[in-house]
Amino acid sequence: MSGTSDLRTPTGEDVAVAGFIRRLPKAELHLHIEGTLEPEMLLELARRNGVDLPCSTAEECRARYRFKDLQDFLDLYYAVLDVLVTEQDFHDLTAAYLRRVAADGARHVEVSFDPQSHVPRGVPFDDIVGGITRALREGETEHGVSWRLIMCFLRDRPPAEAMEMLELALPHRDVIAGIGLDSAEVGHPPGQFAEVYERAREAGLVAVAHAGEEGPPEYIAEALDVLKVRRVDHGVAAIHDPALQRRLAEAGIALTMCPLSNLQLQVTPDLTRHPLKRLLDAGLLVTVNSDDPAYFDGYLLQNYVAAQKALGLSLADLAQLARNSITASLLPDARKAELLDEIDLAAAAD
Ligand code: ADE
Ligand code: ZN
Repeated sequence: MSGTSDLRTPTGEDVAVAGFIRRLPKAELHLHIEGTLEPEMLLELARRNGVDLPCSTAEECRARYRFKDLQDFLDLYYAVLDVLVTEQDFHDLTAAYLRRVAADGARHVEVSFDPQSHVPRGVPFDDIVGGITRALREGETEHGVSWRLIMCFLRDRPPAEAMEMLELALPHRDVIAGIGLDSAEVGHPPGQFAEVYERAREAGLVAVAHAGEEGPPEYIAEALDVLKVRRVDHGVAAIHDPALQRRLAEAGIALTMCPLSNLQLQVTPDLTRHPLKRLLDAGLLVTVNSDDPAYFDGYLLQNYVAAQKALGLSLADLAQLARNSITASLLPDARKAELLDEIDLAAAAD
C-alpha cells in the first residue's frame, strides 16, 4: 500500500537489520486471530462453507484493503467472518498464523479472539476455543511457540452481551488466560464494562483493553482506574499526556503498539511521526505487534522492520523492544528469565 511502499525496497543494511530482528526471541502480545484471515484462506473457507463473498480472487479481495479509519476497517473485517464456521476453520486459521509468526522469530504469542463475532451466528463457543487451542498446542510442539489465549469483548455491543460471553468462557478457564476489549472505541469508554471486568478478575482472568487507539488519553486512564488492566492495547494517545506516561512507566503497564495498523487506519499520518520511539525513550514498556496482519500489510517482523526504518531505531532499541515483549507477557517469571537471557545472547552476537 502507498504508505509503506518505500519500505519495500530493502538495502543490504535493511536485510541485515531484518536478520537481527528475526534472531531476537520475541513475543507477540496483540494479535486478533480473525485479523490473520488472508484472502487466499478467505476464498478457500468461503468455498468450503458455501458462503458468498464480494470478491472472487485474492487480488480483488486485497484491493479493498484501504481504510480511512478504524470503523471503515471493522465494517469489512466483520463482514467476511461468516466464512469461519467449523472447529476445523478456526484450527486452520490459527495454524497458518503460527507458521508465519514462528518464521519471524516469535517464541511466545498471546492470541485474542472475538466470540461475539461468531456465537450469535450459531457457531458453538466450544468449537471456536477448541479449534484455536488445538492449533496452539500443535504449534507449541512443532514450532516451539508457547501461548496464552485472550477473549475480547466488543465495546460497541451492550455490556450485558459481554457478560453472557464471560459466562460461556468460565468453563474454559484452563485455556483462557485473560479478557480484552476491542472494536469501535470513540463513544464507548472502558468504564461501561466495569462489572464484566470485575467478575472476570474474581474468576482469576487477567485484564487488558484497547485504549487510546482512536480514543483520547482519558480512556487509557479509565482502563487503568476502572478495569484495572495490566496492559493497554495500542495506547497511542498516551503521547498527549506526560503525567499519564509517568504513571504507565512507574506502574510497568505495557503498551502493545501496532505500527502498521496505526498507519493503515490513519491513526498516524506517517510512520516517522509514530510515538513508539518517544514513548520508549520516556521509559514506557513499549512493545511491537501486528494487530490484524492480513489486512495491514505485515506480520510481526514487518512491524519491527517498518518501525526501525521510519523511526531510526538502533539495534539496542530493537533488543529493548524484544525484551519488553517478554517482560509484558503472561509467562511465568522463570521462563521470562530464560528468554531474556537468550535475547542478551542474540543481541551480543551481532
Ligand atoms: N478488532 C480488530 N482489530 C481491531 C483494532 N485495531 N481496534 C479495535 N478493535 C479491533
Ligand atoms: Zn487490536
